[in-house]
Amino acid sequence: MTAASLICFIVASVAAGIVTTSSWTYQDQKHWSPQCQEGRLQSPVALSLGVAKEKEFHHFRLSGYGRVVPAVLKNNGHSAEVRLNISQNERPEISGGGLSGIYQLDHLHFHWQSEHVMEDYRFPLELHLVHYAKDTGSLANAINLPGGVAVFAVMFELSPDDDEEFEPLLTIIEKLQTSVGTPMALQHLVVKHFLPRDLAGFYRYEGSLTTPDCNEGILWTIFTNTIPISANQVKIFEEMQTDHHEVLRKNYRSLQPLNGREVSVKISPIRSSAKTTAASSVLLLTIIILTFSNV
Ligand SMILES: *[C@@H]1O[C@H](CO)[C@@H](O)[C@H](O)[C@H]1NC(C)=O
Ligand SMILES: [Zn+2]
Repeated sequence: MTAASLICFIVASVAAGIVTTSSWTYQDQKHWSPQCQEGRLQSPVALSLGVAKEKEFHHFRLSGYGRVVPAVLKNNGHSAEVRLNISQNERPEISGGGLSGIYQLDHLHFHWQSEHVMEDYRFPLELHLVHYAKDTGSLANAINLPGGVAVFAVMFELSPDDDEEFEPLLTIIEKLQTSVGTPMALQHLVVKHFLPRDLAGFYRYEGSLTTPDCNEGILWTIFTNTIPISANQVKIFEEMQTDHHEVLRKNYRSLQPLNGREVSVKISPIRSSAKTTAASSVLLLTIIILTFSNV
């Protein structure tokens, strides 16, 4: 390559956004694109019952989440992403839950460890299900409109047992650890298996994408119920590599200030809080003692 053609190549690459979109790293968050530094409505944030205001939202209506759909998995160098290989009119949809209108699922991706923290706790894994407002037609159209994008965040909690439903997906992710950009098919994906059974409890706030360009106006829903995952399963994510063949040990963005934003929370009526669990244990113990003392 001559010097002139090299310069042309660099100029063309920058113009096409290749350099700016692929060169960011999680070690270098202070140098992410300007909106990430200057935005006042950024994500992720620290969530707690202390900062949130309790609010009554209608429950979510989900359609198509229980269907078996073909998916395509990819290591994109920053995360493991799962795209549904189906046409627009077959996409799973959400409405309700305080959202106005219908949103369609674009894709899923994972962060290890979690980006949002709850009561100062950082979970081993956080799943993002990225939706766009159906009337915009695509994520690309929706991304710069306030309320155009709605993300569901699901936290995973360590458990001694593997999550069986996770296995087919993890088998493929393991194969993708060292190959950035290579698509691999997963024939049978049921998105509902990656949502907690009880969706009634969640935090809601307005924030941003957590990767450059950190676009704002994103409606966040972070479910308070979690899904169990084993340490071995989490390890498969932690061994993913970047396009420079560096191990991507962590891919979460640092916490961002609320800057006066309101955080709402809906408490699930069937959520067993620590307090009620403790109270019911005492009750159970009392019953056992009474039962046995009568023998
Ligand atoms: C996506 O679906 C199309 C049509 O069914 C199929 O031809 C293609 O191979 C699929 N892509 C992958 C990566 O599996
Ligand atoms: Zn994400």
